[in-house]
Amino acid sequence: MVAATQGGEQGWSSRTAFVLAAIGAAVGLGNIWRFPTLAGENGGGAFVFVYVVCVILIGLPMVLVEIMLGRAGGGHANAIGSVADVAEQSKVSRKWSIFGGCEVLAAFLILSFYSVVAGWVLNFVFISGADFFGSLFSGAPLAGAHVGEPQEAVTGLMGELFASPWRMLLLHALFMATTLGIVAVGVHDGIEKAASWLMPSFFVLLVLITIYGAFTGDFARALAFLFTPDFSRLSPTAINEALGQAFFSLSLGSAALITYGSYVGSDVKLAPTAGMIAAADTGVAILAGLMIFPIVFTAGLDPSAGPALIFQSLPIAFQTMPAGALIGFAFFLLIFFAALTSSISLLEGPVAWTIDTFGIARRPAAVIVALASFVVGVACILGYGAWSDVRLLGFWAIFAETDILDTIDGFTGKVMLPLAGLGLSIFAGWRADRRLIEAQTGLTGGAFLLWRGLVAWLAPFAVFLILIFGLFPWLLG
Ligand code: TRP
Repeated sequence: MVAATQGGEQGWSSRTAFVLAAIGAAVGLGNIWRFPTLAGENGGGAFVFVYVVCVILIGLPMVLVEIMLGRAGGGHANAIGSVADVAEQSKVSRKWSIFGGCEVLAAFLILSFYSVVAGWVLNFVFISGADFFGSLFSGAPLAGAHVGEPQEAVTGLMGELFASPWRMLLLHALFMATTLGIVAVGVHDGIEKAASWLMPSFFVLLVLITIYGAFTGDFARALAFLFTPDFSRLSPTAINEALGQAFFSLSLGSAALITYGSYVGSDVKLAPTAGMIAAADTGVAILAGLMIFPIVFTAGLDPSAGPALIFQSLPIAFQTMPAGALIGFAFFLLIFFAALTSSISLLEGPVAWTIDTFGIARRPAAVIVALASFVVGVACILGYGAWSDVRLLGFWAIFAETDILDTIDGFTGKVMLPLAGLGLSIFAGWRADRRLIEAQTGLTGGAFLLWRGLVAWLAPFAVFLILIFGLFPWLLG
């Protein structure tokens, strides 16, 4: 029995439970906050195109690699142990597990800033919720409380939050505590239950708001923006960004899929499951674009506004729309649900490792990891105030201008996740025992050869090139 699932727990109760939890891990702030932001900043269609190519040719094969390594990893529920175990079964060096270590560390770091950003989401859940319920009783049904106010007043909501480190801290703490509460309960009663409620609610809200945007917003322009590629706007950095985003969004390189894979029963066919996860994640990212950009364009907002797009531009837009208070509330609730199922699995990876490595029980392990990650998150918050001059990687040109949160986000997304992917693609493609892998994936004949070809040749090659040129853009002259 898997160490992290000992004590009466069994792992997933069904394949559906696993698929929902894995989709819950994949679908998160990455889809709704990061993807539209990146698409907006990089000119829309061309970025979306490169992104989808990265998902199909590299992301999807790697999703299968990670789940497969997790299940093959002889009863270890953590990324390091699983890779070491598969290495041992394949009679190669256990040192390959260093890439599993890279994943656990990445998950820990991502969780720290993820929880801070999710705290911003919570802020707007509360504000828009107060708006909505207030308007229900004030006789101005569903119109935003800020209708008619100058735009600056609404923009100020974001400024207010950023001017108040204590508020950010409190929200960050609240979100982390919620995540901890669920992970501490366990795989079956905590993670699985949460996903089975939150994910369906998320999908219903997503579809409803997209339909609403299609009727009230500039849907045609959003379609053109997302699907008409202008390749002249593609820089090497944008390609690096697209690959990094594919890894981030699919939760690759950050221990989640390996760990969740270790809880999967031997009867589950992994290849179709990997396909479902990748398809759902990409579908949600594109739907999120179709939900957000009609509203952005109708309100005359700037699609390349960057990270403020969601938290600053959209609240303004909601104020002017029919039933805006209701939609605004539903919108932020939806992001909160997505963020929570992701943070749960961000925490689970390092927690599973802590349980296995130190032989302690789930609850203390969860508390320790969450607390440590919370502290790193506090540093991110200070990066908006007292520590705003701190440049963690200031010596490195691409990070010379970024605050603490953006540096951790950039370093994990652009360096750590692709690096783990590079290592594990070489491991799975070249070093791991072929028969072991073939049996785990359930792929046969041509499908297996295609998958293995992508993993052994294309993934390492493409990831390596993109890493080099993205991180050292001056190499291209
Ligand atoms: N995929 C998540 C999102 O899109 C973010 C993420 C990255 C993640 N790595 C992860 C979530 C590991 C869970 C586990 O928001």
